[in-house]
Amino acid sequence: MQIKSTLLQAALLSSTVLAASKKSSSSSSKTTTTKTSSSTSKTTTTKASSASVPSSCSVSATATAQTDLDQYASCKTLVGDLTISGDLGGASLANVETIDGSFTIKNATGLTTFSADLKTVTGTLTLEGLTILTQATFGQLESVDTIELVTLPAIEAFEAGLLTSVDTVLISDTSLTSLDSFTGLTSVGSIDINNNKYLVSFDSSLETVSDALTYSFNGASSVVSLDDLIWANNVTLSAVDSASFSNLQYINSSFECINNTFANLTASGLKTVGKTFSIQYNDGLTSLSFNNLTKVGGGFVIANNTDLKIIDGFESLTEVDGAMEIIGSFSELDLSSLNLVKGAADIETTASNYSCSAMNKLHSKGNIQGDEYTCTAATSTSSKASSATKKAASTSGSATATSGSTSSSSKSSGAAAGNFAPSSFMGAFPAVAALLL
Ligand SMILES: *[C@@H]1O[C@H](CO)[C@@H](O)[C@H](O)[C@H]1NC(C)=O
Ligand SMILES: *[C@@H]1O[C@H](CO)[C@@H](O)[C@H](O)[C@H]1NC(C)=O
Ligand SMILES: *[C@@H]1O[C@H](CO)[C@@H](O)[C@H](O)[C@H]1NC(C)=O
Ligand SMILES: *[C@@H]1O[C@H](CO)[C@@H](O)[C@H](O)[C@H]1NC(C)=O
Ligand SMILES: *[C@@H]1O[C@H](CO)[C@@H](O)[C@H](O)[C@H]1NC(C)=O
Ligand SMILES: *[C@@H]1O[C@H](CO)[C@@H](O)[C@H](O)[C@H]1NC(C)=O
Ligand SMILES: *[C@@H]1O[C@H](CO)[C@@H](O)[C@H](O)[C@H]1NC(C)=O
Ligand SMILES: *[C@@H]1O[C@H](CO)[C@@H](O)[C@H](O)[C@H]1NC(C)=O
Repeated sequence: MQIKSTLLQAALLSSTVLAASKKSSSSSSKTTTTKTSSSTSKTTTTKASSASVPSSCSVSATATAQTDLDQYASCKTLVGDLTISGDLGGASLANVETIDGSFTIKNATGLTTFSADLKTVTGTLTLEGLTILTQATFGQLESVDTIELVTLPAIEAFEAGLLTSVDTVLISDTSLTSLDSFTGLTSVGSIDINNNKYLVSFDSSLETVSDALTYSFNGASSVVSLDDLIWANNVTLSAVDSASFSNLQYINSSFECINNTFANLTASGLKTVGKTFSIQYNDGLTSLSFNNLTKVGGGFVIANNTDLKIIDGFESLTEVDGAMEIIGSFSELDLSSLNLVKGAADIETTASNYSCSAMNKLHSKGNIQGDEYTCTAATSTSSKASSATKKAASTSGSATATSGSTSSSSKSSGAAAGNFAPSSFMGAFPAVAALLL
């Protein structure tokens, strides 16, 4: 079942032969010929004057045995995409320093260890579905566009001692206990670490994340230290037991903490959140400290945090540009600087000694601009209001979103802030976020 011919054919091709094969690619047996040829042309021009042993070799192949990989030992650079698949035990890719293309190891269900001398992969490095792989050693690896480690249920270590440049990281469904190889990264596009059941800490040097940072549903007592992080587009945390953000100043888009177990959440240096700020389903959460947060550009949601009785730590918050939804059993809600909510406001607590007076005042001054306003506490100090002049037919997004709360306040809180079936929870959440904008 070995598909060696493509490999052998590709291994030692000179640039001349390649140029020819590009023209006659229709005769090639395999699928990725076009891609390989086009990416080759770039590099071969610079390497054309090399000596007889090619330092750059072209490849578009699936290796299914160590002997296939040994063919590349004389190549410093492989141009094209290399895949390892099939019935290998241990395997290694020696001497090759650069893959100008992507490198994939997947469905090699007999692979137990793998090592490579690679320094650079310009495309994606993927290890996926390797059921008994325990050790992956990329000790020289410095630079990769994308790393994907997915479904590696036996892996004990992914070693890449020098990683300094990675745009996208996905680590999902692995048995990794440490992300030490990734701790040197100071800047990434996105990093998504999810469902790694034995991973209980992420101590990161990241300073900026231009897209999304997600750490969700890893080991149950996960400690996440993001103390160098200055700004990130999105941050999403789930099932985290402790999180720290000593230097965080800006969230350009969304900050979402859902279903965590931490007792407190502090980001005192955070100044603005571009879109949604959402703290939901964090049982055990007792305190929030966002002392310098002045503005939230989208929805502001604090809901279903069962132990959160006092909501303070937002003393600088002056403006919420989306809707505000604060639902729980709190007896204190201190938003003393708040003077503008552009969307609706829904404040509901099961505590009987919360007073709506401060929020009512804000509403009556016209500083809550959405069509809907609700503030209810459990008993007598209950005040409910919804804009009498509500233009029911010509509803804006926020009016539609909360129009249910006029007809049935308790039902709306369930729909907007919680009561999702666990299975649909993550899927349903973006709908809530969208509804709040
Ligand atoms: C995975 O590899 C096995 C042989 O090792 C093969 O029979 C199977 O078709 C492969 N599956 C995929 C999805 O490539
Ligand atoms: C996020 O905001 C910071 C601070 O305003 C800014 O420096 C950074 O460029 C922004 N990032 C993105 C991706 O917009
Ligand atoms: C991240 O931010 C972008 C906008 O910059 C948004 O479209 C996307 O939905 C966000 N992702 C999450 C997980 O919040
Ligand atoms: C937050 O909780 C941790 C332990 O869970 C504690 O060590 C820390 O002092 C707390 N911080 C604040 C600000 O309450
Ligand atoms: C708010 O920010 C200022 C300066 O950015 C800082 O000195 C202060 O410690 C912050 N407040 C809190 C409570 O962290
Ligand atoms: C509200 O009542 C709870 C007990 O039900 C009490 O612990 C809390 O101190 C009270 N808060 C205020 C502001 O009265
Ligand atoms: C909070 O979540 C739990 C579990 O999903 C649910 O039973 C409860 O009704 C929710 N509470 C609120 C106030 O939404
Ligand atoms: C919270 O996380 C646990 C696993 O850590 C999961 O079983 C549960 O369904 C999650 N709840 C929600 C509402 O996402």
